[in-house]
Amino acid sequence: MKRITAGFLGCGGIGCGVWDLLQDMQGVIAHREGLYIEVKRILVRDKDKKREATIPRGLFTTDAAELLNDPEISVILEFMGGEQPALDYLCQALEAGKTVVTANKMAVALGWHRLFAAAQQGGGGLYFEAAVCGAIPVIRTLQNSLQGNRVEALMGIVNGTTNYILSQMAESGRDYDEVLAEAQALGLAEPDPASDVDGFDATYKLSVLSSLAFHARVPYGTIHREGIGGISALDVAYARDLGYTLKLLAIAKRDSDSIDVRVHPALVPDRHPLASVRGAFNAVFIHGSAAGDMMLYGRGAGSAPTAGAVVSDLVYAAKQSHHPIPSFEHREELPPHLRMEDNWRCAFYLRFEALNQPGVLGHIATRLGEHQVSIEAVVQRHTEGNERVPIVILTHQAREKDLRAALKALDPAVAQARGVLRIEGQQ
Ligand SMILES: NC(=O)c1ccc[n+]([C@@H]2O[C@H](COP(=O)([O-])OP(=O)(O)OC[C@H]3O[C@@H](n4cnc5c(N)ncnc54)[C@H](OP(=O)(O)O)[C@@H]3O)[C@@H](O)[C@H]2O)c1
Repeated sequence: MKRITAGFLGCGGIGCGVWDLLQDMQGVIAHREGLYIEVKRILVRDKDKKREATIPRGLFTTDAAELLNDPEISVILEFMGGEQPALDYLCQALEAGKTVVTANKMAVALGWHRLFAAAQQGGGGLYFEAAVCGAIPVIRTLQNSLQGNRVEALMGIVNGTTNYILSQMAESGRDYDEVLAEAQALGLAEPDPASDVDGFDATYKLSVLSSLAFHARVPYGTIHREGIGGISALDVAYARDLGYTLKLLAIAKRDSDSIDVRVHPALVPDRHPLASVRGAFNAVFIHGSAAGDMMLYGRGAGSAPTAGAVVSDLVYAAKQSHHPIPSFEHREELPPHLRMEDNWRCAFYLRFEALNQPGVLGHIATRLGEHQVSIEAVVQRHTEGNERVPIVILTHQAREKDLRAALKALDPAVAQARGVLRIEGQQ
């Protein structure tokens, strides 16, 4: 029986979940894998705090050195969160030759180059399945199962809170503020929801996913990010009537030497597999050159699903004689052979508030046409008696900058764009 001595950095929701899962699975892991895992020390801020798991008091410490400098501890499991001091602790552990398993997307996304340099120096492994999409084995899939493919596109619903809010808006017709307040009352959104609703969380995850998908470092700071704060119930309702579902998407596409990597709300056709991902679930849709389309789906957060990914990484790491390191340059910036595309192509949903008089549609169509944006469909309702009316236009694929220039060229006295949403996932 192989014996592993581990230390925890952090013991909140995820740490307690990992502790409970290890107690529950210890016999099974010993039987299946020939592995006995002992947790020797647990770093927390407050040793006396009441915890969700029943853990012997003597394991807790507030001194990180008790784990990082202990030669008996060969694996550090980190779920304390945040960039610092977590990143420094992880680098210290790796430099000392320990293996690291982390659930911390922020530390991995922001400290990628430091972490991999430390892992290469120390010879330990760096595993982070739990950091992206909880229980969904997307990291392992990208690293181990797609070597026979070039990943051409990846689109993910990687944040459960925003997916819950958008699903509720679509199902109930309620406004964003009302649904957010309800999600906060239910504990499904943080009291300060910015990390989720402004797209930061999804951007950390996309930095990690796109780096693995494109075998090149895609730094967090290079990714275009928009949140869901400006979404109106009216646009969600129009989109639903037109056969689209609104999602916060993490998108990464590659076209030879250019990539576009972005997080923003987008409409997907109802027939697309991502449209059926509701509530707090996550999914990652991948298009591989050989595999074609595939989708991974499951619980992207929560104590038990995330703990399952941590324990899986721990067992996997324990069985490696040589830890894998993704085979590309682990630099701080985007590599020179890749260009970040900021003028991507997609179709658009446009909702205008326009004067209710002849010639208005012609004005809009002309400005769009002058900027190479062609119209696929026009919807106009509730026109009688009102001075200004909504006009909804769906476009064919167009360049982002052309579309923005066309909207700027409109006469605001005639028509103003009130809702602009990108459409992704059209075949
Ligand atoms: N929650 C999820 O569903 C989920 C899913 C996937 C990934 N993750 C990631 O998992 C990580 C942990 O999440 P969580 O929900 O478990 O967080 P949490 O409940 O806030 O737990 C954080 C733990 O870290 C300890 N800690 C924080 N800063 C510390 C410091 N400076 N020194 C010592 N101990 C410190 C805290 O100690 P005290 O208990 O003494 O305060 C606490 O035990 C995060 O990176 C998160 O992004 C979470």
